[in-house]
Amino acid sequence: MILGLLCWTREVQYWESLYIHRRKVHLRTGGIIPTVAQQLHRENIEHVVQEALERSGVDPSHLSAVATTVKPGLALSLGIGLEFSQRFVRQHNRPFIPIHHMEAHALTVRMLHPVAFPFLVLLISGGHSLLAVARGVDDFLLLGQSLDEAPGDTLDKVARRLSLRKHPQCSTLSGGQAIELLAKNGDKKRFNFRTPMGQTPDCCFSFAGLRNDITITITKKEKEEGIEQGTLLSCVNDIAAATQHTVAAHLAKRTHRAILFCKANGLLPSSSPTLVVSGGVASNQYIRKALTVITETTGLHLLCPPAKFCTDNGVMIAWNGVERLREGKGILSPNIDVRYEPKAPLGVDMTAEVRAAAIRLPSVRIKISS
Ligand code: KG4
Ligand code: ZN
Repeated sequence: MILGLLCWTREVQYWESLYIHRRKVHLRTGGIIPTVAQQLHRENIEHVVQEALERSGVDPSHLSAVATTVKPGLALSLGIGLEFSQRFVRQHNRPFIPIHHMEAHALTVRMLHPVAFPFLVLLISGGHSLLAVARGVDDFLLLGQSLDEAPGDTLDKVARRLSLRKHPQCSTLSGGQAIELLAKNGDKKRFNFRTPMGQTPDCCFSFAGLRNDITITITKKEKEEGIEQGTLLSCVNDIAAATQHTVAAHLAKRTHRAILFCKANGLLPSSSPTLVVSGGVASNQYIRKALTVITETTGLHLLCPPAKFCTDNGVMIAWNGVERLREGKGILSPNIDVRYEPKAPLGVDMTAEVRAAAIRLPSVRIKISS
């Protein structure tokens, strides 16, 4: 049995393999304030872990190990999790397994489906955007990542700029969920946002320029409608639909190129090659459909964990611990000092090789009925 700990920016979550106990503390501050996040972690960590152990009836001495995220992430939050864990494993003399946040996202799918290595993985959330080949529990090839912001962050910022919290159907939704909901009744053709990086034949992502284009359009529409920023535009559904479509097209194109790169270099098995998509943005049905067009065109099998495992969760950290424990990789005795790493790339960086291959994409029509 493994205790998994994830100290991340938005919420505090802990998991023990029999019982899931979550304590969500969303920071409604319009952004993450590191010191506030740190304080929330500090206030919650002790009794949440205690409660998880009590509910599952597991004595700390019976834990096989404690797995904790130590990279990458917000230093102040990672620090609280690591400090607590090191004290805990020393007190109970348990092994410690430091975890890479993105590695955990990439492997979660194997808890639910028997997906063999290697497979291609696309991770898209509010904090990340990357394409990688998972070749083993601790063996990844990084094919592409965001050069600026993550897609969920972009959707959250567009939703905020559109004041979607004031929309009666969206007040309790995340930015991404609000955009998906409104897009269902929108005309994506009404606004033509350019798909980012069309002239850059690699697998990296960029969303900041797109957000700028969308903001310019919103400002223009506000002027046309004679309304102030902070008031809902009459065309929010259409802006949401065009935004969602452009994000989906960008993700689909970069993924398409990653698949072709993998095929050209024999990086995926010839029989049932798989694309795994995870992260909060992966729960978007329109984006999933766009990726399905690509996997059907290229003969890959698409797998996506259910939303509760796609978004940040403590279970994935514990699962990563299980995978490492099974293979005997990265298991430390309790007295070894570990440092957290706010910045930590995933695996071997292949982005330059992907760029050098300059793979041109065949034209694929991403036609999705919402
Ligand atoms: O993985 P996650 O829970 O946390 C991190 O950011 O690491 O992802 C949260 C992100 C938010 O930006 C949210 O707007 C986005 O996922 N999201 C969605 C949807 N549901 C959540 N984006 C698009 N469509 C959705 N249905
Ligand atoms: Zn995450």
